[in-house]
Amino acid sequence: MSDLYQRARELDAADPLAGHRAKFALDEETVYLDGNSLGALPAHVPARMADVIGREWGELRIRSWDESGWWTAPERIGDRIAPLVGAAAGQIVAGDSTSVNVFKAVVAAARLAEEGRDEILVDASTFPTDGYVAESAARMTGHRIVALDPADIPAAAGRRTALALVNHVDYRTGRLHDLPGTTAALHAAGALAVWDLCHSAGALPVGLDEHGVDLAVGCTYKYLNGGPGSPAYLYVAERHQGRFDSPLPGWTSHADPFGMTPGYRPADGAVRGRVGTPDILSMLALEAALDVWDGVAVDAVRAKSLALTDFFLECVRAYVPEGRVTPVTPEAYAERGSQVALACADAPAVMPELIKRGVVGDLRRPDVLRFGFTPLYVGFADAERAARVLADVLASAPDAARPTRP
Ligand SMILES: Cc1ncc(COP(=O)(O)O)c(C=O)c1O
Repeated sequence: MSDLYQRARELDAADPLAGHRAKFALDEETVYLDGNSLGALPAHVPARMADVIGREWGELRIRSWDESGWWTAPERIGDRIAPLVGAAAGQIVAGDSTSVNVFKAVVAAARLAEEGRDEILVDASTFPTDGYVAESAARMTGHRIVALDPADIPAAAGRRTALALVNHVDYRTGRLHDLPGTTAALHAAGALAVWDLCHSAGALPVGLDEHGVDLAVGCTYKYLNGGPGSPAYLYVAERHQGRFDSPLPGWTSHADPFGMTPGYRPADGAVRGRVGTPDILSMLALEAALDVWDGVAVDAVRAKSLALTDFFLECVRAYVPEGRVTPVTPEAYAERGSQVALACADAPAVMPELIKRGVVGDLRRPDVLRFGFTPLYVGFADAERAARVLADVLASAPDAARPTRP
C-alpha cells in the first residue's frame, strides 16, 4: 500500500464534511469527479418529486399554484441560494437558463450604465454562451464588445466602459478570477460588474453583497446539485432593483400579473427578473436538492476543496510519469477554483478509458482532462484512486510517448 493510499484514508477519517456524502445517491464503484458539470443526485429528491407529481400536481392540480407555493417558488428558491453566494434575501430569483439570465443581466446593466459609455468588456476565454449572448446584447443596445483576459479588465476599464461580464471561475482551466479586485476597479471607472458564478457557487465563497457586485447569474446543476437543466438564477443588487429594466418583461414579473393589463408595470424587488411560467418540476427538484446545504458553511467547503485539489495534484505528481500531463489549473489558492484541469496530448482517448475504469471526469477538447471536486461528496480516497487509475491508463495508452503541450 502506498503512503498516499494510507494518507487518503487518514484525511477522510479527519474530514468534518465526510458525513454529507451519505446524503447523495452514489455507488462505491465510481469516483464521480464531474459534479462541476452535473452534480450528483441528493438521495431524498426522488421521494420529494414523487410527492410533487403525485399529490401537488396529481391531486391538487391548479390549487398548487397557491396551496403548494408554486407561484412564489422562484423568489423563495432565490432566497435559499442567496447565503451560498453571500447575498442578503430579496435579491435573487431562480428561473430560466444561465444563457437567458446572461442576456437579462447584460442588457439591464447596459441600461443602468451612464449615458455615453459604449463598451462592454467580456472575458476572452469565457464559456461560449456568455460571449454569444453579450455580442448580441451589444448589437441591440448599441455597444461594442471588447474581449480581454480577465486579469487585464481592471486596467482596461475606463470612461467608455459600461460594464464587464466575467466568469468567476474559468470552466476550462479552473482558474479563479479576482472578483473583489475586478469589481472595485470597474466601480472606480464608473462601470458595472456582472459575474457568471456557474463554476464557483457551491464551491467557494463568492461574497456578492460584500464586494458590491451589481448583477450576477449562475446555474444550479453543477455544485448546487439541482439536476439536469435545473433553473439558473439572477442576482440584482438591491440598490439597482428600482432601475432594473428587464429586456424580457414577462407577465410573471408584472406588479399585478393577474390584472392582465396591456401595459407593463414591473413588480418590486428581485421578482423583476422573472419572465414566464416557472418550470415547476425542475424548480422543486432544485429546492429539495438545496436541503443538503443546511448547516454547511461555504468556508468549510472551500477549505476541503483546496485540500482535495492539493492532494489530487500531489497524487498525480507521484503516480503519473513526468511530462504526461501538465496541470493548467493555477496552484495559487487565490487563483484556483474547485476543479483540476490537466492538459494531456491524448486526452480524447484517455477520458473514455478513465470512465470505463470508474473514474468519471470530462474532456474539454482538444486536450484538457477536467476533474471536478465537490467537497460534499468527494473524499480524499476518491482523489487518490482517480490519480492512480489515471496513471494506469496513461501507462497503457498507445501514444504514451507524445509530449503534452508546454
Ligand atoms: C460558465 C458557464 N456559463 C454559462 C453556461 C450555460 O448555461 P446554460 O446552458 O444553463 O444556459 C455554462 C454551462 O455549463 C457555464 O459553465
